Amino acid sequence: MPTASYDFGLIGLGVMGRNFILNVANNGFTTFGQDLDVQKVSALLEEGGNLQKVNASTDIKTFVQALSKPRKIMLLVPAGKIVDTVIENLIPLLDKDDIIIDSGNSFFTDTDRREGYLAEKGIHFFGAGVSGGAKGARLGPSIMPGGNKEAYQHVKPIFEAVAAKYNREPCVAYLGPKSAGNYVKMVHNGIEYGLMQLTSEMYDLLKSGGDFTNNELHSTFSKWNKGRLQSFLVQITADIFAQDDDLGEGKLVDKILDKAKQKGTGKWTSQNAMDLGIPTPSIDIAVSMREISALKNERIQAEKLYQQPNVTILPKEKLEELAEQALYFSFIITYAQGLHQLVVASKEYGYALKIAEIAKIWRAGCIIRAGLLADISDAFATDKELPNLLLSPAFVEKVQGTVSATRELVAYGAENGIPLPGLSNSLTYFDAYTSSRLPLNLIQAQRDYFGSHTYERLDREGVFHTEWEK
Ligand code: 6PG
Repeated sequence: MPTASYDFGLIGLGVMGRNFILNVANNGFTTFGQDLDVQKVSALLEEGGNLQKVNASTDIKTFVQALSKPRKIMLLVPAGKIVDTVIENLIPLLDKDDIIIDSGNSFFTDTDRREGYLAEKGIHFFGAGVSGGAKGARLGPSIMPGGNKEAYQHVKPIFEAVAAKYNREPCVAYLGPKSAGNYVKMVHNGIEYGLMQLTSEMYDLLKSGGDFTNNELHSTFSKWNKGRLQSFLVQITADIFAQDDDLGEGKLVDKILDKAKQKGTGKWTSQNAMDLGIPTPSIDIAVSMREISALKNERIQAEKLYQQPNVTILPKEKLEELAEQALYFSFIITYAQGLHQLVVASKEYGYALKIAEIAKIWRAGCIIRAGLLADISDAFATDKELPNLLLSPAFVEKVQGTVSATRELVAYGAENGIPLPGLSNSLTYFDAYTSSRLPLNLIQAQRDYFGSHTYERLDREGVFHTEWEK
């Protein structure tokens, strides 16, 4: 029986779990893993190489007893019921002040429920989203923890040691109480969906509208990644175009079925934005496009029924230049929407989020890391009450300078039958958000006409109703 001396415990030794625990061990902490799968336990022990630093067991009791108090137990198990099952198994074995950290993509209301339930038993529960995939988990992820602030002090040294670093600053920070961490990770994923959709639209635009080959796409995205579009997603997109197909001729990207799957976090972001009354159309459309992509058979049938316009091929250089600007514009708009949602959710759910801090911990390690986030963080640090990035003076020039290219491409896409819904939704959001007058006075009139729903007036206070039918 190992002595109760291990600093950190982790349940769920799948790819993410194994990589995360090895990261913790590499940073000088002693670690103990647990998984019901013997092979996963053996794989960790083999890779860990030293039982004093990395130990593991299939037995939950052995695992709990091996940890020093207060115990710090991270769960990297699939979100949903299994988290509750693991919690129930742990409860009888834990002591007051022990800490459970759920690092899966759990729905934030589940985290609130679990936090309340465990608080009654004197156990601290954290929702701490981890972003960066398997490699990030091993070498430095971005970590988004929320929960009890005092209890966080026990976890802080470990998280700060293992997190990605940006200019030596760790990409982790205490974000707020209860489900604050899960919520921020959910919106991170919503933004992730939006940025991925936009990069895929640029791919379509360059390929269909400019006859770009995969090699040319590789060069274009590589070049973009050296400029203001520098980001993890642009970088991996460049790599993807260079990947040969090991099972056949040509590049792998051309052989991949065009049906995108999803686990739900992007959809949750959109759904919750609707609940909060916050517009996030660049994220919503990214979810819808994954849904449309899934209708492959119907799309094949429909293509045969309707004529597609002939595409006018544009000069490569011009298209590349316009696309760079439009991608920059729409990336900004997508971050703006996600962060706007965080501003409002923070008030609604009492998270007291610091948006500048969140943008800071997204600068490295996570999937949506991008050069742009340093500017975004500065904008929210300068004005702590900033409701929307588009209202930051520092962003006016960046947006103003790239909107006309976006207009040109949205029009070009529409004329040539190249669907650019992420781009056009971003543009429409911008046009609407920056309009002091919208035609929704008419909607108010219609509502009042058919349902006596009343309306307000521009020229005087009060609530009015008109008998419209004479
Ligand atoms: C991350 C990712 C990750 C997410 C995948 C898949 O930050 O590392 O957001 O948490 O699970 O990106 O998400 P979908 O299956 O929904 O595309």
